[in-house]
Amino acid sequence: MKKLEQIYEGKAKRVFLTDDPDLVIVDYKDDATAFNGAKKGTIVGKGVINNQMSNRLMQRLEAAGIPTHFVQELSERETLVKKVSIVPLEVIIRNISAGSFAAHYGVEEGIVFEHPTIEFSYKCDELNDPLLNDYHALALKLATRDEIERIKQMAFQVNEVLKAFWAECGVTLVDFKLEFGRLADGTIILADEISPDTCRLWDAKTHEKLDKDRFRRDLGGVEGAYAEVMKRLLAHG
Ligand code: TMP
Ligand code: ASP
Repeated sequence: MKKLEQIYEGKAKRVFLTDDPDLVIVDYKDDATAFNGAKKGTIVGKGVINNQMSNRLMQRLEAAGIPTHFVQELSERETLVKKVSIVPLEVIIRNISAGSFAAHYGVEEGIVFEHPTIEFSYKCDELNDPLLNDYHALALKLATRDEIERIKQMAFQVNEVLKAFWAECGVTLVDFKLEFGRLADGTIILADEISPDTCRLWDAKTHEKLDKDRFRRDLGGVEGAYAEVMKRLLAHG
């Protein structure tokens, strides 16, 4: 598969065309940002871990019947994926209070919800990814009613599969962000990545943070946390 011109550069990944119009190559960087790019840094080895972790999790989701963009891991940092047009919604599922939920509603982190929550943000850096609901997404024509329903259904399914798998690894899946894409025929599939950049992962016993919150909050031990969750995933993969 030939890597052709770069078509996109995000904060953590680059995307390249290939000689197949339906496939692109994603290349994961070690660059880390937080607060919409206001905080910048490097997490050494993150690109390799996020690439390999995301691929393994996506393969598990595929096995559970959830369609994803994953096609083939090409190298430590590169993966061949299906070309999609990204639905400009960040879909966030929460099992436990943390982060912006705890801040918005004035509660402590660590409250276990009886039912997971779902929320959407409009994926738009210039506007700082504002929160919106289904009606706003429809009004802005970000997705159709059917697409929103399908996205919600898939996101909760992803939660069930990932929650169970991470529990086997001794890790609690606190919350995470997903992005979905449309194939040329309109089918909605899971895209982007699933990694410690996009999930809150706590040690099941000690509740130690094993994710990007260590970078966001200057807690130290960032690389070690990424390596630890990867090690646990591989031990149970
Ligand atoms: P939040 O509590 O800051 O809203 O984050 C919820 C989850 O979404 C958390 O697992 C981190 C992830 N996330 C991203 O992947 N990208 C983002 O830009 C933000 C703000 C959060
Ligand atoms: N996506 C955020 C940023 O743009 C990073 C984060 O908090 O995960 O910097």
